[in-house]
Amino acid sequence: MKIGIDKMAFATTNEYIDLRELARVRGDEPDKYTIGIGQEQQAVVPPTQDIVTLGAAAADKMLTPEERDRISTVIVATESGIDNSKASAIYVKHLLGLNDFVRAVELKEACYSATAGIQFARGLVALNPQESVLVIAADIARYGLAVPGEVTQGAGAVAMLVSQNPRVITLEATSVSLTKDVMDFWRPLYATEAMVDGKYSTNVYIDFFKQTLERYQQLTGRGLEDMSAITFHLPFTKMGKKALEAVLGDRDDATAQRLRDALTASQIYSRRVGNLYTGSLYLGLMSYLQNGAAHAGDRVALFSYGSGAEAEFYTGILEPGFADNLSSVFTDLDARKQVTIDEYEQAFNQHLGMNADDVEFDISADQAKFVLAGQKNHQRIYKCK
Ligand code: CAA
Repeated sequence: MKIGIDKMAFATTNEYIDLRELARVRGDEPDKYTIGIGQEQQAVVPPTQDIVTLGAAAADKMLTPEERDRISTVIVATESGIDNSKASAIYVKHLLGLNDFVRAVELKEACYSATAGIQFARGLVALNPQESVLVIAADIARYGLAVPGEVTQGAGAVAMLVSQNPRVITLEATSVSLTKDVMDFWRPLYATEAMVDGKYSTNVYIDFFKQTLERYQQLTGRGLEDMSAITFHLPFTKMGKKALEAVLGDRDDATAQRLRDALTASQIYSRRVGNLYTGSLYLGLMSYLQNGAAHAGDRVALFSYGSGAEAEFYTGILEPGFADNLSSVFTDLDARKQVTIDEYEQAFNQHLGMNADDVEFDISADQAKFVLAGQKNHQRIYKCK
């Protein structure tokens, strides 16, 4: 049975900052941000948006009423949880108006968990081929103001429907996971910003990429020449380049050129949004599919990495008509409003975070369909406009 991703859609916030402007305010060279890190713009998160509103917005874009009826399970993969107990997937299920006879859970393992969600979804569909599983990768990457990680923040969600006879990509059998107890990035329960050993994390990422790729090659007998593209988790776009170059070395043949071109195509959206944590790999896949030389029948590889650390390397075969089953990302990015660094800093500090008080946000300025209106009696209030 063919199982894989049937549809994909992306949502982010309606505001962004220009990272050249941030560099000037922080006293850095703009080229460090745009070339050294590889980021141009960054999503700004108003207090009225969180992983639930972003995740629901992404899923709402792509689901027909018939598809909603076939969903048996909603998995929200995130490391930006909004409750230590209740799953964000339950709020998403409610906002999407799904049937009550679904299961809804949240998964966590840093930026990796959406990949686990897809693998679990694959198993559920294999058992019940008439059902679909909605996997949503939603995160808000927060490091803090004026810290090295600031330039690698971002926010957004990618929603994916996993089903039999998928229209985007059929997943292949071999998948290599790798897990080791590593402290490269984490967020204690009392913190709203991530703690990170930045340089170390980039080295662990590269090491995990090399190890999973090598094992995939041993298990399948396939080499780089058998892949049209490798899409990467992109915490910042230069990270994908560092990893790819670590295995290409000084190769300059047709395979190396093809993989470098594919990487460039996969970086386009992340460059304008920033890190989505769990969603970054899948936004990179959408970017490659919409901007690269992708054709039905091609084998595309996915490298998923989550600090802590866990990685997975797997592949899929593109289906005819894959491009018709992806939401239009440029339309969303071009419709956003640029805000100043002052406005970004205010929004950064206004988020609900660990605040236990009753709060009512002004939702009139947020054009999104789903908004977080505030908190009352320790309960988040979501509205569908
Ligand atoms: N023009 C062009 N390039 C310049 C430049 C200029 N004027 N000035 C500096 N650069 C280059 C540097 O040479 C460097 O390039 P290389 O990495 O290729 O050597 C690059 O810009 C960055 O410069 P620094 O190393 O000095 O930057 P930094 O100390 O400010 O930190 C960072 C960079 C470590 C990535 C930091 O932003 C960070 O900690 N980010 C968060 C951690 C992260 O994203 N880790 C990724 C792996 S972990 C993961 O993937 C999970 C996840 O999502 C977090």
